[in-house]
Amino acid sequence: MAIIFNEKAKTFTLNTKHTSYQMKIGNLDYLLHLYYGPSIPDEDVSWQIMQYDRGFSGNPYESRNARTFSLDAQPQEYSTQQQGDFRAASIEVINSDGSYSFHGKAVDYRLTKGKYKLDTLPCVFAREEDTADTLEVTLLDQVSQVKVILLFGVFQEADIITRAVKVVNGGDRPIHLAKVMSLCLDFLNGSDFDLVSLPGRYGQERQVERQHMTHHIHNIGSVRGSSSHQQNPFVILCGRETTEDCGRCYGFSLMYSGNFLAEAELDQYDQLRLGMGINPKQFLYELKPGEIFEGPEVVMAFTNSGFTGLSHLYHDFYRTNLCRSKFVSQVERPVLINSWEAAFMDFDDVKLVEIAKAAKNMGVDLFVMDDGWFGKRDDDNSGLGDWVVNESKIKCGLHKLVEQINDLDMKFGIWFEPEMVSEDSDLYRAHPDWAMEIPGRHAVRSRNQIALDLSRRDVQDYLIKSVNTILDDANIYYVKWDINRSLTDIWSNDLPAEKQGEVYHRYILGLYRVMDAIILTHPDILFEGCSGGGGRFDAAMLHYYPQYWVSDNNNPIDRLKLHYGTSFVYPTCTMGAHISDSGRFVPLETKAVVAMCGTFGYELDATHLTEKEQKICMEQSRLFRKYYHITFKGDFYRLTNPFEMGNMTAWQHVTKDKRESLVSVVVTNLTCNGPQEYVKPKGLEPSARYSINGSEETRSGAALMNAGIPINREVPEYSAFQFYLVRED
Ligand code: DGJ
Repeated sequence: MAIIFNEKAKTFTLNTKHTSYQMKIGNLDYLLHLYYGPSIPDEDVSWQIMQYDRGFSGNPYESRNARTFSLDAQPQEYSTQQQGDFRAASIEVINSDGSYSFHGKAVDYRLTKGKYKLDTLPCVFAREEDTADTLEVTLLDQVSQVKVILLFGVFQEADIITRAVKVVNGGDRPIHLAKVMSLCLDFLNGSDFDLVSLPGRYGQERQVERQHMTHHIHNIGSVRGSSSHQQNPFVILCGRETTEDCGRCYGFSLMYSGNFLAEAELDQYDQLRLGMGINPKQFLYELKPGEIFEGPEVVMAFTNSGFTGLSHLYHDFYRTNLCRSKFVSQVERPVLINSWEAAFMDFDDVKLVEIAKAAKNMGVDLFVMDDGWFGKRDDDNSGLGDWVVNESKIKCGLHKLVEQINDLDMKFGIWFEPEMVSEDSDLYRAHPDWAMEIPGRHAVRSRNQIALDLSRRDVQDYLIKSVNTILDDANIYYVKWDINRSLTDIWSNDLPAEKQGEVYHRYILGLYRVMDAIILTHPDILFEGCSGGGGRFDAAMLHYYPQYWVSDNNNPIDRLKLHYGTSFVYPTCTMGAHISDSGRFVPLETKAVVAMCGTFGYELDATHLTEKEQKICMEQSRLFRKYYHITFKGDFYRLTNPFEMGNMTAWQHVTKDKRESLVSVVVTNLTCNGPQEYVKPKGLEPSARYSINGSEETRSGAALMNAGIPINREVPEYSAFQFYLVRED
């Protein structure tokens, strides 16, 4: 068992291969957080906590006149409310008498083998070969009888600890939850910490930002109804000294696709508190007696090996313990071509088949029909919600179209945007009350569409039925699931006034139910997530989809930053990446090298390519397949930082056994008569010898990593290189 309860010291120590996490039922039964970091023995480290009389930091009543005991200066595992701790609270309960208070004390704990599950929310799972254990600690407020159950999952080998929370109303009157964080992590001194986050915008998702902790609350979150383009539910706390290759790094990845919040507070005594969970904005959840509320899971990791070490932990874990699809490891992902940038909504069956035929010469396995095939859909003013084939465009019918594609020995894929409705649609005309519109007000339009109220069971059932009908009707191999706006006008016609504060969260619960009912009943279909690019690219989505569209921005030079930022937490095999017409001056080969940092595919009108270009594509598709086992299963290294001034961007994949590696380089800037530059691979076996691109001469891993590979300067702008290294046996 990876979890030790020390009866005498009342400590719980959670051990993974290289880390320990410790908490203690301390003074007055408050659950104190003692430690998270490199492994320590089962030793009570509460001696770190010094107690002083801190002015204006209140003392709980039970401490009588012990002025030195204040929750304001105690590291807590889940902070209480109105108990003299003025830092960000983990929970805000509005009791039935209108009081705002929760005084949780540890009353019970339970250790079990295996990993806990959540009933309403996605979470990571343990495979048969994993050693995973669960700790549950119950905090009880004696007055209200409200319980908070803290769940900890320990994955020993993976060096991962997960946390989640359940709130149970054990009282006999309803209560309201105004805030429920899933994580509270207190550090006794955090003044030398930096906070790294992945902010962005449409077309430029997950750029990397690093800031020093200062004395205020750094809030990173979303109130857009989705995890958003603008922020990502992943943050890192690292030492000021931490670099790509070494230094302390804590990662926190929230498994939630709706409004979220990560709040990092450096307080008056330089204590650092990180809270993470559902964003409390416009959140008010009624909990009747006996009801349970679940907060989403946070997946935590610690390493002393810098950002690379942290990324490796997440990449390995998310590749094996997150997504349930067979396309994760049993079946190779296909090379696809998507119709969007080739035809937008202006197509018919004949045009699609022509594109597919041309794509056949490019080594494509899968043809994807994007937006525009259903309802009345010639532009973005109409059709959403009517998931029936538009036979004035697909004149031969879906069946026949799929058959024609299959006859080319290609698979067929299709696009949906289930969560949205157009006013000009049969669905809206039949069920205007299914759209999110506040009575008496006109809803905000975005891309001319309105969100459906997915908190409603009837809406969920309609979507499950209409999408499943299409999927069951034809031989569909792939689905792209899109959502193209942020939520506004949060309202459900199905809920009474006092429950409107639940709609944001209920929407996400409804969405997960719909996804489960569609995805799990179609295990042979490859699903790809999308939200106007990478607007909802989060760990919870990767529980459903093995891949997610990184961005609508296909410019290969911008993509270098997009892939770099995304790779901090999400493995490159989840990153949807295509070659398109975007980036006029960038050679096709370079676009392909960039797309090989992800799932690889095309998004262009194949009929416009010359024979020579088609041949180049054919060769690139072949290379993608050749390197698949390295790029999809190996370790990923960011060799340069594209946000820093530099003339090239480089990255690398290395197989786990260090036998093969693919080093990719894009020359982003050619200075006249500039210095010779070198790319230094990582993760090779120093004493082994490697051939480069099949050369007879070999070089030692040590020399390659320390001296580097010279990058030819005599090349056109935006050239790319791939160095395929193979170890001599
Ligand atoms: C946004 C997506 O990101 C695009 O790839 C495309 O599918 C469009 N939506 C279609 O409306």
